[in-house]
Amino acid sequence: MKSNIPKSIVARPTKDIPQAGCVTAQCHAGVKKFNALHGPVNVNACDACHKLLDASKHKYELARPKNEICVFCHKLDLRGAPVVHKPVTTGDCLQCHSPHGGTDKRSLRGANMTEFCDKCHKDVLAGKKRAHGPAVAGACGACHQAHVSQYPKLLNFKGRDLCLSCHKQMDAQMHKVKFPHKAVEADCLACHDAHASDYPMFTRRPPVALCTEACHEKVRKEVKDDKFKHGVVTQEQGCLNCHTAHGGDLAKLMKTTPLKVCMACHTNKIERPGLAAVPGVGEVLEPKLFKHGPINQGNCSGCHQLHGSDVAKLPIKPYPEGFYEDFTPDKYALCFSCHDAQLATQKLTQGVTKFRNGQTNLHFVHVDKVEKGRSCRACHSTHASKNPMHIRESVPYGQWQMPVRYAPSATGGTCASGCHKELTYDRANPVVYAPSSATSAPATAPSDPNAVKPQENPK
Ligand code: HEC
Ligand code: HEC
Ligand code: HEC
Ligand code: HEC
Ligand code: HEC
Ligand code: HEC
Ligand code: HEC
Ligand code: HEC
Ligand code: HEC
Ligand code: HEC
Ligand code: HEC
Ligand code: HEC
Repeated sequence: MKSNIPKSIVARPTKDIPQAGCVTAQCHAGVKKFNALHGPVNVNACDACHKLLDASKHKYELARPKNEICVFCHKLDLRGAPVVHKPVTTGDCLQCHSPHGGTDKRSLRGANMTEFCDKCHKDVLAGKKRAHGPAVAGACGACHQAHVSQYPKLLNFKGRDLCLSCHKQMDAQMHKVKFPHKAVEADCLACHDAHASDYPMFTRRPPVALCTEACHEKVRKEVKDDKFKHGVVTQEQGCLNCHTAHGGDLAKLMKTTPLKVCMACHTNKIERPGLAAVPGVGEVLEPKLFKHGPINQGNCSGCHQLHGSDVAKLPIKPYPEGFYEDFTPDKYALCFSCHDAQLATQKLTQGVTKFRNGQTNLHFVHVDKVEKGRSCRACHSTHASKNPMHIRESVPYGQWQMPVRYAPSATGGTCASGCHKELTYDRANPVVYAPSSATSAPATAPSDPNAVKPQENPK
């Protein structure tokens, strides 16, 4: 190691001189040019380390080999210490400490910690866009021991205890939340770099990859392979658009209730360049409307697969897109995952549905047809509606908003939709549909108040 002590500016003495006279303005001034002097230097005990060889030639050598100089007085107890800093193992105290003094009493070689550690290590912040407070401040010692440690990487504490030793508030918060993220209970370093990285909050990977590369393989596949994407899953904050990273009081680590998370984007129409706009579902927030059961419970994911879906509009299970559908129950798997499929498949029934004329199941009549059955959306709105039973005010039929005009009664109801003339059904006293009732709307068969086909072909 090269000495940083300036050469003396006078001729060498030729006889022994008292130690107190070693450092003067002319001689070895540098030995004491420090903010803080090392104990023995301060009391001129130069001979604790320097041994006079030849007074006439003013020749000295170190009193002991370099790697024994310091431990002569400072016993570093390395016994049983599982992790020892390499230069300490080899007794290279002088690589880190200057023997005479330093900017403070630790006598370190370097103006600050960063400069000091960087002599042997790559700069832990180099070229990174985001960095951690204490690392920027050069407080390496806040996390690392200089000589020995109980823990790998010379750390002051083990695992997340290290982080929580400063992040007390988070510690408290994590004990409070109902649904902590398992990963956070293990090790913070699974996601964060301790020093710096190129990503917000110095996470180890960019937002989406952070969640899907080492964990959440299933979601990664869904996001990649599903036919219909939900862009928000991979854009900007990615998963964090809906989930919290550490945990919270909502199941599935939702960052707030679906009504807040989803409606922040979906209250109004979303335009998409080159694609059809996504209609807003602001009706979900209208206090006066009847809400569909799952929405009442604030549960959009009862019906929607939010990471992506193989069905358009992201339902969890198939649901027809159009007004007509050749009926099979599996095409309505979404609705029948909560409602009994028999409401559409039983021709005659007493109980499975109230949409009956006597025992004639009018759901069956409308829906269960080999060709061109009406889909549920012909009559029911999906999210919320003005009418009970989620009967629509109107239904999109091609360009036309076809009116539905439904009026319930105690034992049935009346419908004067654009599909057929006004027709009534009654569970208690079944209406007998006279053939003449078909006159105002062509081709309506008595048993099939539904046979009128609107002229237009809907989407
Ligand atoms: C704790 C041990 C220690 C004490 C005490 C000490 N030195 Fe040193 N000194 C060293 C070591 C070790 C070196 C070798 C240089 C290095 O590694 O930085 C050195 C280097 C020097 C050098 C420079 C030699 C060269 O050519 O590089 C001078 C001069 C010197 N010391 C003078 C003194 C004087 C004067 C005192 C008393 C006021 C003193 N030292 C006290 C350990 C000590
Ligand atoms: C002759 C005995 C002696 C030798 C040899 C010696 N020291 Fe010291 N050292 C002391 C004394 C005495 C103090 C002052 C202790 C105090 O203030 O508590 C001290 C203080 C220190 C301190 C500051 C400790 C503190 O907590 O304030 C450091 C760091 C240090 N020495 C490092 C070294 C290094 C590195 C070497 C080898 C180059 C070395 N010492 C060699 C006696 C020695
Ligand atoms: C890798 C660099 C490095 C090496 C090698 C090293 N030290 Fe240190 N030492 C430090 C740092 C950094 C501190 C200050 C620690 C702090 O402030 O928490 C320190 C502090 C000290 C102190 C002050 C009291 C204490 O323990 O905190 C003494 C004494 C000391 N070292 C002696 C030694 C001795 C003796 C050796 C050789 C066996 C040695 N050091 C080797 C970096 C080193
Ligand atoms: C907030 C705590 C913290 C601070 C501050 C900190 N480190 Fe670290 N450091 C760590 C942790 C934790 C690891 C272990 C990283 C791992 O296992 O991925 C580490 C690892 C290291 C390593 C070993 C890297 C390796 O791959 O083996 C070095 C070298 C290092 N830090 C140097 C520094 C330096 C230099 C500073 C000051 C500029 C510093 N650290 C500040 C927490 C910290
Ligand atoms: C004199 C050179 C030197 C200085 C100065 C130095 N180190 Fe080291 N450090 C080493 C060597 C050599 C290793 C062992 C590297 C290896 O095994 O690849 C090491 C290893 C480490 C490790 C990894 C330990 C492990 O268990 O894997 C950490 C962490 C570390 N140093 C932190 C620091 C910090 C923080 C500082 C500043 C306070 C510092 N070092 C200053 C030489 C130094
Ligand atoms: C020595 C104390 C200390 C330790 C240990 C510590 N931190 Fe920090 N951390 C801070 C300080 C100080 C800040 C800056 C706070 C600020 O700017 O509001 C910070 C900021 C952060 C931030 C950014 C917060 C924000 O809102 O910008 C993250 C993330 C973070 N720390 C994670 C960790 C992780 C992970 C660990 C464990 C590897 C850790 N911290 C250990 C002191 C510490
Ligand atoms: C599963 C990955 C993951 C784990 C494990 C993790 N974090 Fe985070 N952390 C993140 C992400 C992602 C963010 C950014 C959150 C955001 O912007 O909403 C973050 C943000 C932070 C913040 C700043 C925001 C805040 O809430 O104050 C701190 C501090 C923090 N983490 C500390 C920690 C600590 C300490 C641990 C370990 C106890 C830890 N993290 C474990 C992923 C993680
Ligand atoms: C940050 C804004 C944002 C958030 C939050 C959001 N979405 Fe979306 N969503 C979009 C965008 C933009 C589209 C259009 C499809 C695309 O570009 O990926 C979309 C598409 C959809 C679609 C498909 C519509 C269609 O016509 O294809 C459904 C269903 C949906 N979102 C439901 C939800 C639900 C439920 C939530 C809450 C769990 C939610 N979204 C949260 C922005 C968001
Ligand atoms: C648009 C909002 C939204 C986004 C963005 C989002 N999720 Fe989800 N995620 C949800 C909802 C809602 C649930 C709850 C589903 C349920 O109740 O079954 C969920 C459930 C989960 C689950 C637990 C259930 C399962 O499917 O295994 C995991 C894991 C998950 N999400 C991971 C992710 C990851 C990873 C990302 C980013 C790639 C992400 N999520 C992005 C809304 C979202
Ligand atoms: C009962 C099942 C169900 C629930 C619960 C549900 N949706 Fe839907 N959602 C659908 C179906 C089915 C569609 C396809 C369009 C249609 O038939 O009305 C859809 C379409 C959408 C669309 C696209 C708009 C459109 O008309 O194309 C958005 C946005 C949407 N839903 C958001 C939400 C949000 C936000 C929630 C929770 C507040 C939610 N959905 C709850 C079934 C549901
Ligand atoms: C996640 C479960 C779930 C799914 C999927 C679902 N529903 Fe519902 N639905 C409910 C619940 C719960 C109610 C409220 C029942 C109650 O209040 O007794 C309800 C009520 C209804 C009602 C009004 C009945 C009443 O008694 O108020 C209609 C109509 C309806 N759903 C139609 C549909 C259609 C059409 C679909 C497919 C697009 C569908 N549902 C999908 C759970 C679901
Ligand atoms: C032609 C219009 C029409 C179609 C198409 C239709 N419904 Fe209905 N649905 C009604 C009417 C009207 C009621 C109200 C019956 C009553 O309370 O008098 C109703 C009631 C319901 C109810 C409440 C329970 C019951 O059966 O009384 C559910 C659930 C329901 N429908 C689900 C569906 C599903 C699922 C589909 C698609 C497979 C569907 N509906 C298709 C008109 C329709």
